Amino acid sequence: MRYTVSMRKLIVANWKENPGNQRAAQKLFGEVARGIGKLRRQSRNRNVEVVLCPPFIYLEEIAAKHRALRTKLQLGAQDVFWEEQGAFTSEVGPKMLKALGAKFVIVGHSERRKYAKETDAMINKKIKLALGDGLRVILCVGEPLSVRKKGISAARAFIKKQLTADLRGIQARNLGARKLVIAYEPIWAIGTGNNDTPEDAIEIARFIKASISCRFLYGGSVNSKNVAQYVQYKEVDGALVGGASLRAGEFISLIGNI
Ligand code: PGA
Repeated sequence: MRYTVSMRKLIVANWKENPGNQRAAQKLFGEVARGIGKLRRQSRNRNVEVVLCPPFIYLEEIAAKHRALRTKLQLGAQDVFWEEQGAFTSEVGPKMLKALGAKFVIVGHSERRKYAKETDAMINKKIKLALGDGLRVILCVGEPLSVRKKGISAARAFIKKQLTADLRGIQARNLGARKLVIAYEPIWAIGTGNNDTPEDAIEIARFIKASISCRFLYGGSVNSKNVAQYVQYKEVDGALVGGASLRAGEFISLIGNI
């Protein structure tokens, strides 16, 4: 089913720890860039802004190819550190990312919170530095299944707590949709094929937008078949896509179906 969308939508591809090597990453990038170029020529994706977030290690070559091909895609990173530079083994600062051509950065993904034990205080520092350096922040929030089982109002309370802590000291009401993107990703919906209902996602979107000036993305098992169900609503500005962004054909169909 196709829906009419009036506003420009934002689709962010989170490649996570994929693909397995530089060559495969360049191939995926090339296929996606060509596919999206083709959609544009057919005037099928004029309303979509596409951001690709590969692993750090692939970013530089992808950025070079992106410039050479003059693609309409934008680049982002999956994480950032809260210090610009110094004795912080393995970390990457926002200015380093900007220098490579990244415009966006994902912060606070539930996998970072879970596997790297990132706290809201750490996420807050990352957001402050990244915004200060002019990166656009995609802040991920979302409740675990144990919370959702108690109902949507319990989910709302959980998200409110995350947002309050993650955005402490940041004038989120005034930040604006260009700088801040909030991705609502219920943890139980990520990578499971068990996507949230559009109605619940919209309820969360309204709740967040009532106090924060931002763009709202839904994330969690979004694919080419279900994307339109979300982005048809004016409250939903787009989607954060994991698994479905790793297959060029599927990802291009997803963009084409908006
Ligand atoms: P998924 O991942 O699309 O594979 O569910 C989304 C995400 O974690 O950003």
